[in-house]
Amino acid sequence: MYVVKSPLSDASLQTVSEALQGALVDLVDLGLVAKQIHWNVVGPRFRSVHLQLDEVVATARTHSDTVAERAAALGVPPDGRAATVAVGSGIGVTPEGWVDDAAAVRALVDALGAVIVRMRERIAVTGEPDPVSQDLFIRITADLEKHHWMFQAENG
Ligand SMILES: [Fe+2]
Repeated sequence: MYVVKSPLSDASLQTVSEALQGALVDLVDLGLVAKQIHWNVVGPRFRSVHLQLDEVVATARTHSDTVAERAAALGVPPDGRAATVAVGSGIGVTPEGWVDDAAAVRALVDALGAVIVRMRERIAVTGEPDPVSQDLFIRITADLEKHHWMFQAENG
């Protein structure tokens, strides 16, 4: 059922909608993982890591909305359901229970790194079919890479 008419050709829309949906799933999961660790981090650096994690949550939530609404604007219904996120996320499994501050930082370095690799692939494939979506991916990746830098510096 087409409710919103897409400005893109079918072939372009296929590529771009897969990229946007993949980004949505990664960003929803990134927000969940960052909150999980925000709640469970322990150790001498608790306060700074706890607060830093909420900055990642804010970025992830803001940009999950960015990509979901871009998909909708292109006529593709975004799917941010928990089951879809669980199957499609590029982030590995987050350990259960308390996590010490150094391990918490490592987990975020890994999670952000995994998402950034996939975002850069999305930048690469969307330039020709839809530079408008590509621009969103570029801006999202810049924000994620800033967080990635800060967490790497935490354990430097
Ligand atoms: Fe909190």
